[in-house]
This record gives sequence, C-alpha cells and structure tokens, in this order.
Amino acid sequence: MSQTDTTAAGAKSAQAAPSALEVKDPRTQRSYSVTMLERGTEGDEAIRASDLRQIKTADDDFGMMSYDPAFMNTASCKSAITFIDGDKGILRYRGYPIEQLAEKSTFLEVAYLLRHGELPTQDEYRSWVHDITFHTYVHENIAKFLTGFRHDAHPMAMLTSALAALSSFYPQAKDIFDPAQRYISIIRLLAKTPTIAAMIYRHMKGLPIVYPDNSLPYGENYLSMVARMSEPRYEANPAFAKALDVLLILHADHEQNCSTSAVRAVGSSHVDPFSAVAAGVAALYGPLHGGANEAVLRMIEQIGHPKNVPAFIEEVKGGKGSRLMGFGHRVYKSYDPRAKIVKQLADQVFAQVGMDKDLEIALKLEEAALNDEYFVSRKLYPNVDFYTGLIYRSMAFPTSYFTVLFAMGRMAGWLSQWEEMLLDKEQKIARPRQIYVGAPERQYVSQLTDYQPDTRKDSIRK
Ligand code: CMC
Repeated sequence: MSQTDTTAAGAKSAQAAPSALEVKDPRTQRSYSVTMLERGTEGDEAIRASDLRQIKTADDDFGMMSYDPAFMNTASCKSAITFIDGDKGILRYRGYPIEQLAEKSTFLEVAYLLRHGELPTQDEYRSWVHDITFHTYVHENIAKFLTGFRHDAHPMAMLTSALAALSSFYPQAKDIFDPAQRYISIIRLLAKTPTIAAMIYRHMKGLPIVYPDNSLPYGENYLSMVARMSEPRYEANPAFAKALDVLLILHADHEQNCSTSAVRAVGSSHVDPFSAVAAGVAALYGPLHGGANEAVLRMIEQIGHPKNVPAFIEEVKGGKGSRLMGFGHRVYKSYDPRAKIVKQLADQVFAQVGMDKDLEIALKLEEAALNDEYFVSRKLYPNVDFYTGLIYRSMAFPTSYFTVLFAMGRMAGWLSQWEEMLLDKEQKIARPRQIYVGAPERQYVSQLTDYQPDTRKDSIRK
C-alpha cells in the first residue's frame, strides 16, 4: 500500500493502478492506494489487512485495523486444499467435485489427495494404505487411560483427551519441520483415530476391547473393532461399510471452519500435531459445529411425532425454542452439496435396515422449513448434519457418539491444513488484535476490609 499525495496540498494526482483500491481518510484528507492481492483461482479478491495500518492520523498512531468478530469476512490463509462456493452449493477437494469423490473414490484415497494435492498412483496408494494399516495399534496405556473415564463420559471428551494424551507417546512428533516426522505423525493419526474411537465405543458399552484386524480395509477394520463379539472374523454389512466410507469422504475437509481454524491456530504455536488436532476435536464437539449431528437427533426425539412438526417450527421462528438443528450454514446459502449426498445415502441404508421411525419427522421438518418464509428468506437449508445422525443411528451408534465419526473423517482435512499452514512462509503464530473497550487507566485502591495479603503470605511461608 502506498500513500498518494492528495492532502491539503494538492489534488489527487496518482492514477490508481487497476490492482489497487483507493481509500480516502476523511480525518486527514489523505488518500491511500491499497494493493489488491493476486486473485484466487476462483476469483477471490482481497487486500492485506495489515496494509490498513498505514492509515493513521499521526506517526505514532497504531494505524487502522479491520474489525471482524467471528471472521465473517477475513481470509486467514491462502489454501489450495478445498474450494466452496456457498451460493452455488459447490464443494471441491483439490479441484475434484465432492459428488465424484463420494461416488468413485475411497476415504484413504481422498486423505492422500488432501495431503498430497494429487490423486495417488497405484504404487503410491498401496504404500499409503500399507503405512496407515501398519500403525493401527495404540500403546496399551491408551486403553488403560480410557478406563479412567466414567461409563457415561461423553465420547468427544474422551476422544479429545486421548488424542492429546497420544502426544506424550511420540515426543519426536515435536520435530515438526522434519518431513519424515510430519509424515509418520499424519500416518499415526489417520491410523489410530479409528482404533481409539472404537475403544471409546467399547468403553461406553462396557465391552472388552477388540484389537485391529489389519487384514480388513480401513472402514471395515473400524466396524470390526466396534461390533465384533465372539466371531473369529467380522463381516461388515456392505451397505454400512459403504455408507461409512462415503460419510468419511464427505466430512474429510471443509476449508477454514471452526475446528480447522482451531487446528491451524494451535498448530501455529509449533506444538506437535497430536495436540493441535485435539484442539480441533474440542472445537468440533460444540453443537453449532460437528455436535449438530447429535443435536439433530435430540431435537427429533424431542419433537416425538410428525404431527408436532408445525408447532416446533413455530417455536423456532418465535425464538422461544432452540434453532432448527442441522439447518443453516455460515458459507452455504443454498443446499449443502454434502446434504444431498447424505440424503441419498440414507435412502440406501434404510432400504437395507427398514425405515427409521424418526426419518418421517426429519422429512416433515425439511419440507416445512423449505416452504417457510422464515427459513427461505434467511437461506437456511439442510446441512450435512441433518441426515447423518439418522444413518449413524440405524447403524446402532449411540447419539452422543455421532460426532466421533465426524472427527474420524475430518482428521484427514485437519492434518492437511495443519501441514499447509506450517509450510506457508507467510504464516506466523496466530494472534488476532482487539479493540479495547474496558476501563481507562485508574489507581489501585483496595475495596477489601478483612483480607491482609502480607499476613497470608507469611502464613504460607511458615
Ligand atoms: N434455525 C433457525 N434460525 C436460524 C438457524 C437455524 N438453524 N440458523 C440461522 N438462523 C437464523 C438466525 O437466528 C439469524 O436470524 P436473524 O437474522 O433474524 O437474527 C439468521 O438465521 C442468520 O443466522 P446467524 O447465526 O447469523 O448465521 P451464522 O452464519 O452465524 O450461523 C450456523 C451458522 C451453522 C452456526 C447456524 O445456521 C446454526 O446455528 N445452525 C444450527 C446448527 C447446525 O446445524 N450446525 C452445523 C453446521 S454444518 C456442519 C458443521 O459446521 O459442523
């Protein structure tokens, strides 16, 4: 950014370059030429927020900041991983439409694509799958660690803690600028998250742990650890195995959402990736983010019967009840493309296991909302979480467990985004600014009448 001399002295002379914005400060009458960044692939335009700092009324001013609570209009990074067009309902990983990946790819191939930027060759895929399969076991102390939780501990609390705990088993993972360490940490996290997730399930149910069967594919191995009882080898229902793989693909990445931003921000302190993704799981837990799939089912249970749907919709609109969970999105202002795929998937799963009694309530809710002015005018459409819970429940997962399945898929995206952030020369430790609105400087005068700090200090010393 440069300042053009259009102050009191003279009229604006410099012709603005086409790649710059002209900003005039009415306080000083100065004009500034703010350079625009090179456009993104899909035409995104931005200026560098720090360029605004040049706009000041005196040399010792801090300079102009931009104020953007909840990052409604702030690009925190340049990323080549995922593209979303929220108005058109487009989602692509590394340029590939989500619909094609969901139909033709596998979760591990998508995980490779997200991390490496290109689809794997046969050899690359073989060695990627081999490495992940080779690392599915966890240290036995992780299993012991999980037994410390109450039987009714929330599975997301257990997952957050177990992933953070895993950091202590791999101190070498702190060496984040060693490509070999980054690679093995990524492999370990992709491999061990399903194992830990399954251990959490077994802990919730009071069942003995089932160890990985590495002769099975990724998703089926996970289902085996969840569901196997006395049979020597677990045979997954092919419809469930397929549904799980597609759901993992749909959840694998979603650009700079709340949990990914958490992973990037925590990772920007150069902590190890196990700790960074534990922060991502914590962020995902919330009901406005991944926790919405659990909240949708609780909402449907609360509604209880399709006949109660109109009254519930009125409550939501009146602001008296909760929001319509599974509806709305910060970025999508048309149908979430993932929700379309999930709805088709739900039809396939229900064709196998029979109609879920609550699917009728969900369909009625969707129909009511899509035809209601309140939702239409606010562009509130079903998001990915609206139907996923119904699928998970038909697979017999407990409601509180749904978000763990979301985390298993999103792990691929978190790790790719974490590595992209680390290798981006423009990134530094994340440290937003604030606008201070508290008290101005004032003098300390104690308001306490019976508290003697010095006496207390003495007593501690004794
Ligand atoms: N039900 C009823 N009203 C809603 C909803 C909803 N689900 N979502 C937004 N609104 C209303 C909101 O009250 C506001 O109305 P008004 O303009 O009259 O004040 C308007 O729509 C805009 O809402 P907002 O809160 O400014 O929108 P946002 O972009 O900050 O929030 C959201 C996005 C996803 C947090 C929100 O839509 C929501 O809470 N949805 C329900 C929770 C949910 O399904 N979350 C999953 C998101 S997708 C997967 C994921 O990210 O994990």
